[in-house]
Amino acid sequence: MAQFNLKINGTDLEVNVDPQTPMLWVLRDHLNLTGTKYGCGIAQCGACTVHLNGTATRSCMLPVSAVGNNEITTIEGLSESGDHPVQKAWLEHDVPQCGYCQAGQIMSAVSLLKSNPRPTDEEIEGAMSGNICRCGTYVRIKAAVKTASKALNS
Ligand code: FES
Ligand code: FES
Repeated sequence: MAQFNLKINGTDLEVNVDPQTPMLWVLRDHLNLTGTKYGCGIAQCGACTVHLNGTATRSCMLPVSAVGNNEITTIEGLSESGDHPVQKAWLEHDVPQCGYCQAGQIMSAVSLLKSNPRPTDEEIEGAMSGNICRCGTYVRIKAAVKTASKALNS
């Protein structure tokens, strides 16, 4: 066990955990931030996606000891009341079915639009290809990313 001082969703937090503990479990089991989901545990599905200094990162493969002073943002920290333009676009297009993958999808979409505010269809497909949706919501995800892009650029 070791003590780690983390900055998560703008708040300084302290946890005492094994240094190899993946951030996914620190978030879910120690900090009760359960919006971030476990899917595969091997960086293949995207369900656990959070932001590390604004960049989409798979928290299932990120040991707490590797975080250092970098800021982590989870779906809970994206907006105060679920009104980030990407979240609004998700609602407008009624994207989720079961919802399990959607926090990861949204975190990847926000990261994409930050680095590429006007992505093409191909760029959206490429950036989102690591986020698997077993319900097959891909068409609506792409439409929602485009709507969010327009909103963010207007
Ligand atoms: S749980 Fe992390 S990528 Fe699947
Ligand atoms: S909405 Fe069910 S897995 Fe994506």
